[in-house]
Amino acid sequence: MTAYSDLIARRFGDGGPVGAGVEDNDTIRRVLARKTVRRYSDGMPSEDLLGVLVAAALSASAKSDFQQASILRLREPGKRAAIGRLFPSMPWIGAAPVFFVFLGDARRLQRIGELRGKPLRNGTLEGFFNASVDAALAMQTMILCAESVGLGVCPISVIRNEVEKVAAILALPDLVFPVAGLCLGYPAADGHVSLRLPRRVTTHHDCYDDGGLAFGVDDYDRRRDAIHAIPADQQRANDEFGTADFYGWSEDKARQAAKAEGAAFPPYLRAHGFSFD
Ligand SMILES: Cc1cc2nc3c(=O)[nH]c(=O)nc-3n(C[C@H](O)[C@H](O)[C@H](O)COP(=O)(O)O)c2cc1C
Repeated sequence: MTAYSDLIARRFGDGGPVGAGVEDNDTIRRVLARKTVRRYSDGMPSEDLLGVLVAAALSASAKSDFQQASILRLREPGKRAAIGRLFPSMPWIGAAPVFFVFLGDARRLQRIGELRGKPLRNGTLEGFFNASVDAALAMQTMILCAESVGLGVCPISVIRNEVEKVAAILALPDLVFPVAGLCLGYPAADGHVSLRLPRRVTTHHDCYDDGGLAFGVDDYDRRRDAIHAIPADQQRANDEFGTADFYGWSEDKARQAAKAEGAAFPPYLRAHGFSFD
């Protein structure tokens, strides 16, 4: 038994290391037990707390200190509702007490180049990637800090599926793009800790080796199904792929990924300042 045995077993259930001899630490415990929350009570976090969470998010590390994340808080009810209406299958987007949008912001550095008279072109793949990573790190930093004070959150990347409309509502200029929204509020439901793939599938030592993938995924599917089975009426794309007798995580994710999402995003980016060269 270690400080983390139960939490690691609940997260992975893979029989892997449980941190023997590692001192108990609150932050690590909280991260091991974290879960996405999609239902919120009416309680509104204070503006002071939200301000602190934004400051914490912007304290995340940033590639080359370029600081290419921006955070947009969407408060105006009409705009909130307009974005919510775009995604009726995810009512938490419109209903969450607080909604942030984490932006990859390649524009600020481009403008700084102009201000300083330097030949800076930031619509490259490098510029896009750096800004995306910065925004993702800022978002995850806010997630962990928000969860640590009892808030629940849900990242929202589906907004990129309607990027033209979302960008128009938020008046995003060229070289600024949404990485994800973030719903935030006090949890109204407990949710569940989502079992992760076995660490022998997702970790490598000294060289990459996915020789155990097929077995590891089968094993994961069965264990995950025993804890949190996907109901028969939630099988995706039955018309195309038929009804599966056993419908595990990998069947679900393979079907989901076979229907490529995000077709609107690359043309949007190319039309708004990114050449990706
Ligand atoms: C970048 C990113 C985008 C996500 N987008 C959505 C989304 O659009 N809608 C949603 O309901 N959940 C979204 N999620 C939440 C994931 O579905 C969730 O993190 C995943 O199922 C694992 O659950 P857990 O966070 O509770 O461990 C997103 C998560 C991430 C990291």
